Parts: sequence; C-alpha cells; structure tokens
Amino acid sequence: MPKTWLKQHRRDYYYKKAKEEQYRSRAAYKLLQAINKYHFMKLSDIVVDLGAAPGGWLQVSSRVVGEEGIVLGVDIKEVEPLPESNVCTIIGDIIDQEIINQIQAILPRPVDVVISDVSPNLSGVWELDHARQIDLARRSLQIALAVLRQGGNFFVKTFQGEMLGDLVTEIKNHFVHVEIFKPPASRAKSAEIYVLGVGLKTKLV
Ligand SMILES: C[S@@+](CC[C@H](N)C(=O)[O-])C[C@H]1O[C@@H](n2cnc3c(N)ncnc32)[C@H](O)[C@@H]1O
Repeated sequence: MPKTWLKQHRRDYYYKKAKEEQYRSRAAYKLLQAINKYHFMKLSDIVVDLGAAPGGWLQVSSRVVGEEGIVLGVDIKEVEPLPESNVCTIIGDIIDQEIINQIQAILPRPVDVVISDVSPNLSGVWELDHARQIDLARRSLQIALAVLRQGGNFFVKTFQGEMLGDLVTEIKNHFVHVEIFKPPASRAKSAEIYVLGVGLKTKLV
C-alpha cells in the first residue's frame, strides 16, 4: 500500500473520529493517547492548558479531572465557550510576564498538571520554525515551574531538531522522570514530538 495513501488515511481517521466524538480538534487524541499511556492526569486535578484553542485538550482534560477538578485554558485567541462547568478560559499571550500572576489569581491552589500544545504560525523555514517552537516550549516550562505544585506534571509540544536536546536536559533538571512521546495521532511527517516531565522536584519557594 503506498505510504502517501496510508498517511492520508490516518489523517482522515482522526479527523473523522473527532467529528464523530464531538472533539473540537483531532489534537484531542494526542493528549488522550499520552494520558492513557502515562497516567499523568487524574480525577480532581487542577490543569492549566497553554495554547488551548479551539479546545480539544480542554474537552479531554475536563472529562479526566471530573466535576471536582478545574481546567484553565490560555490562548492568544478566544476559545469558544465550552458547556463543561469545570472549564474556564482566558485570552493571554504566554510570553507576557503577567500571565503567571493571572493564572495564579484564578486558581484556588497550585496546579497539578500543565499541558502545552502552543504552536507558532509556521513560516516554512525549518530553522526558524524549530527555534520558535522550542522557545514557546521553554516559556511553557517557565510557567509550569511557577504554577505547579511539587510533584506536579508537565506535558509539552516541541519539534524534533538540534535544539530539542538542550530543552529535554532542562526538563530533566526539574522533573523526576522524563519521557519523549510521539502519539499515534500525530502525523508521521510532522516534526512535532511531546515531552512529559513527571514529578516536579522540590520547589525553591
Ligand atoms: C495546535 S493549537 C492547540 C490545539 C489545542 N490543543 C486543541 O486541542 O484544540 C496551538 C494554539 O497555540 C496558540 N498560541 C500560539 N502562540 C501563543 C502564545 N504566545 N500564547 C498563547 N497561545 C498561543 C494558538 O493561538 C493556537 O490556538
């Protein structure tokens, strides 16, 4: 079977599945597959979702944490309101220094899980896109370090490439265990890859 056909089929499979199961994005399956494999989010957790629009990861997280949990989404774009009562969203740029204060002001206690699917607008110039994605992942890490509780978890989108190694080393410095994961729902031809940091080490606050 030609590879291009298989790739197309796979893309259509998750696209159609998302439509059928009423997820706002096919990206929802990337998070679902990661949670099913690594169990880093659970009932009653407080979750911060960076780069949350259009809301597929918010829907998945909302179901995992249940009514006792809270999911806060942040995006530079407005997220169309979701019916789930445990989800709230704010419009914000994760580069903005104030974003950490804003997150902390909304939530009742330190966060259990930070997830980040933030993506830059792609220019098509590989070096530039790779560098921007790594910068956004590194900024997501800074936010996670500020808002997570000790023992909390961090799941972030990055791009494969020469700068990935340094970022993984940084994440390893702060978390007890680190995994690199390419979800089956992520297109094989895409450079995207996710890094999971489990168990934030001692906080110096
Ligand atoms: C791939 S989409 C996220 C999809 C989402 N996980 C879902 O399941 O629906 C990436 C998002 O990152 C957001 N984004 C890009 N740069 C950002 C920034 N500096 N601050 C906040 N959000 C940003 C974009 O607006 C976009 O909605």
